[in-house]
Amino acid sequence: MRLNAYLARAGVASRRGADELIKAGRVRVNSEPGALNTFVEPGDRVELDGRELAPQRLAYVLLHKPAGVVTTARDPHGRPTVVDLVRHESRVVPVGRLDADSTGALLLTNDGPLAHRLAHPRYEVEKVYEAEVEGEPGGEALRRLREGVELDDGRTAPAGVRRLGPSSLELSLHEGRKHQVKRMLEAVGHPVRRLHRSRYAGLALEGLGPGESRELTGPEVEALRRLVF
Ligand code: URA
Repeated sequence: MRLNAYLARAGVASRRGADELIKAGRVRVNSEPGALNTFVEPGDRVELDGRELAPQRLAYVLLHKPAGVVTTARDPHGRPTVVDLVRHESRVVPVGRLDADSTGALLLTNDGPLAHRLAHPRYEVEKVYEAEVEGEPGGEALRRLREGVELDDGRTAPAGVRRLGPSSLELSLHEGRKHQVKRMLEAVGHPVRRLHRSRYAGLALEGLGPGESRELTGPEVEALRRLVF
């Protein structure tokens, strides 16, 4: 693994922060100065300011994100973040994002390659949303959502759409553009009032109340890997 990823996994800094530590000459690998292109192999001894580091274990956390919490690791405005909520010993970060006012399933991990793939459009990971909307969408609105809606960044891919109530829809998407569900529903004349993600990549929130989180089981992590590797 690259030296900056190793340092991030050891919890000393973000990858970018790790690059700065490396450039400042504070990192040694097997007693040699570390460089930006240094690779760390199992058994290598990595030191920061002369102190040996151990990588943290890989961690995978499913959070039921409540409203009012931002999906970043640190918020410049001091608002509570999903990372504050999870309070994990490992440096887990969110995979993708939910808007501050959205609720529901959010995965956090320190497994960089898995996170990168899950968030990449190529792997078309499924996200299921429940949306409460203004008005009562009719058949034509549902048909447009299913077939694809023209947005300012292009037409959306076909989506699964199910009616849950007169003003409530379930949407299954394999894309993850910014504010996508809100923009799609706005485009068909039914702005979102409340948005909840009930499933992410096959993970549901059963048993988790708002603000609660849990570690994934081994089989759940394996299932995620099978989706994208
Ligand atoms: N689409 C949105 O508009 N908002 C979210 O939080 C997630 C998907």
